[in-house]
Formats: sequence, structure tokens, C-alpha cells
Amino acid sequence: MSHRVLLGIGIFQILITTLFSQATGDIKLLPPRFEKQVTLFDALKNRKTNRSFSDKELSLQQLSDLLWAATGVNRPESGKRTAPTAHDDREIDVYVAIAAGLYLYDPDQHILKLIHHEDIRSATGRQEFVETAPINLIFVADYRRMKGDQSSKDFYAATDTGFISQNVYLYCAAEGLATVVRGMVERSSLAEKMKLYPDQHIVLAQTVGLPR
Ligand SMILES: Cc1cc2nc3c(=O)[nH]c(=O)nc-3n(C[C@H](O)[C@H](O)[C@H](O)COP(=O)(O)O)c2cc1C
Repeated sequence: MSHRVLLGIGIFQILITTLFSQATGDIKLLPPRFEKQVTLFDALKNRKTNRSFSDKELSLQQLSDLLWAATGVNRPESGKRTAPTAHDDREIDVYVAIAAGLYLYDPDQHILKLIHHEDIRSATGRQEFVETAPINLIFVADYRRMKGDQSSKDFYAATDTGFISQNVYLYCAAEGLATVVRGMVERSSLAEKMKLYPDQHIVLAQTVGLPR
């Protein structure tokens, strides 16, 4: 196929995805910025918990980079991610609670799928800052996608979440953002607000924003 035809198909696909995203309320994310000049050792040196958040929104580019860093596809040929998962189950879903509503990150399409338009940030944790910080991620393990018995599912769901959370910590360190991973979550009331199925288990939440 000629370059011109391929380019035409590429532009058509982008157009369709953009129009589809607008119609469904989904948010089309931007490709990650690979050219950022922060070294891994800089990020490790600066990784820390910061619970003091500005209520200012992140840019779409920052939101896109954050989610790609968390668990984006880094090997398109296999669909594998920036974070490892036991048995390659890929069972951890990253939900994103922002003022505009609740969204689910789809790593394969690199988009945020709209779940609903309710602002549920205040329900994502017991600490005050969750209500006003721009982003609360909620890490949810879908046990239907996991192998093994209940205790191995509990163990691997927690382990796999840890890798994603650390990716978020390192991205935030590299980008100068504040973040805190949180176990203090009212899981049953939050699951209701998120309209989760019984086999979906909230593991941890993580707040992200500009430092105040
Ligand atoms: C599994 C886990 C759960 C945590 N839960 C909370 C929490 O609910 N609220 C909070 O403010 N910090 C929470 N933290 C953050 C820790 O308090 C923090 O990582 C610790 O004090 C060390 O600080 P550092 O991250 O700056 O090294 C949690 C950390 C982990 C790993």
C-alpha cells in the first residue's frame, strides 16, 4: 500500500476515534511525551508522599502521561504494560475520579471511558484533600480475570497494584506533582458509587495533583 493511502487511513482512524469519543463522553488521551529529560535516578531521588494539593487541574498532556506511566501499553505487539502483572492477567483497572465524573482508563485504546458524570472524589477516601485534589485514581482488581484461589487472588491483586502505584509515584516525582497512595478507603460505599460488580475489588486509591 502506498504511503499516501496509509496516511489517509491513519487520519481517518484518528477522526473516527475523536468523533466517537466526543459522542460517548469518553476522553481521548494524548500520546505520552517520551522526550522528557528527567533521569530515572532523579525520579527515584525525588519520589515521596505529599498530601498537600492545589485544586488546580492537570493539563490533558499530564493526565495522559500519568495514566500511560501507571499502566499504559509499552509493547504494542503484545499489549503488555508499563507495570507487570502475575500470570499476565492484567486484572487491575485504573478508575479516574475527577470533577467531570468517573472514568475508566483503557490502556489498549489509551482513552478514558466515561462511567458516569457524578463527581465522587469525596467518596474516594477519608482524608479531606480527596474532595478538592483534581485526580483520585482508584485501583480495582477484577477477580474474573484472575487465576487461582481467593487468597492467591488477594495476594496478586495487592502486589500488582503496588507496581502501578509506584509507577504513578515515579511519574509524579519526574513531573513535580504531589501524590499519596491510600489504603484508608471506605470500600463498600465507594464500590456502590462506582457501580462495581461483586467480583471487582477496590485495592487502593491514589490522589494526584499539583503541590500546594
Ligand atoms: C499500601 C499503602 C497504604 C497507604 N495508605 C495511606 C493512607 O491511607 N493515607 C495516607 O495519607 N498515606 C498512606 N500511605 C502513604 C504512607 O504513609 C507513606 O508512603 C509513608 O509515610 C512513607 O512516606 P513516603 O512515601 O514519602 O516515603 C500508604 C502507603 C502504602 C504503601
